[in-house]
Amino acid sequence: MGHGLLSGKKGIIFGALDSKSIAWKVAERCVEEGAQIVLTNAPVAMRLGEINELATKLNCQIVPADATSIEDLENLISKSMEILGGKLDFVLHSIGMSINVRKKKDYTDLNYEWMKTTFDVSAISFHKVMQTAMKMDAMNEWGSILALTYIAAQRTFPDYSEMAESKALLESFARSFGYHWAKKAKVRVNTISQSPTVTTAGSGVKGFGDFFGYADKMSPLGNASADACADYCVTMFSDMTRMVTMQNLFHDGGFSSMGMAPEILED
Ligand SMILES: NC(=O)c1ccc[n+]([C@@H]2O[C@H](COP(=O)([O-])OP(=O)(O)OC[C@H]3O[C@@H](n4cnc5c(N)ncnc54)[C@H](O)[C@@H]3O)[C@@H](O)[C@H]2O)c1
Repeated sequence: MGHGLLSGKKGIIFGALDSKSIAWKVAERCVEEGAQIVLTNAPVAMRLGEINELATKLNCQIVPADATSIEDLENLISKSMEILGGKLDFVLHSIGMSINVRKKKDYTDLNYEWMKTTFDVSAISFHKVMQTAMKMDAMNEWGSILALTYIAAQRTFPDYSEMAESKALLESFARSFGYHWAKKAKVRVNTISQSPTVTTAGSGVKGFGDFFGYADKMSPLGNASADACADYCVTMFSDMTRMVTMQNLFHDGGFSSMGMAPEILED
């Protein structure tokens, strides 16, 4: 049940691929809380078609955009303002992809052309989205921008490979851009560091099943679900968190503060 937390707010949600996607849940929760949204994803993701079901269910429109293309982003932002009838209050960047991970390349034998693509898709696209929106003066004051990240940005999780560096870059962009946008138009920028979550991108990481169980035991509250992440995103888009900016916010059931959990030693 909604509480009208986003009543009257307008936003763009990147990254809903299928019903497991974190962005899918965020889109549902935002609409439930009274927001008007535009969905977007890479043209290649459109071919899978599931996003159309979400758009029908939520009665919203889709504008395809490759988040690495400035031209696509300009088109997305101008069409979204047209569709929604004004400037934006929130944007969710929920995008991640690594060809080296997908092709199971060892971390000490990475292909550097693929690495550049990984950084472009998974991190630089965040800067591109923000720079394009700022140049187009597309955000309302006190607007809120979020990107999803993972604790491998700070600690070593060997199978996360070059996605660790992507997330470190992504989080740094949030801090740096957050400064400029706060000064210019009181827009806030944060990243949410989410627990392992069973999705297409998540399950692509080697040994994900075992790791999911390990993180669940290490976290006193257990792993945070995609639904819980959607709730957190709603609060970050709402007016209840207006002074939070330039932060990396852990949403992980306590995992990031743990040293040792006795549960790990059982059985
Ligand atoms: N699943 C996890 O365990 C987990 C944990 C922490 C953070 N995250 C992050 O959450 C975010 C969402 O991932 P998810 O787990 O929901 O998986 P997902 O596979 O459902 O979402 C990834 C999305 O990125 C989109 N994408 C890829 N290339 C793109 C491009 N060029 N332009 C636009 N969109 C593009 C895909 O189409 C897809 O919708 C990612 O940033 C991911 O790293 C995931």
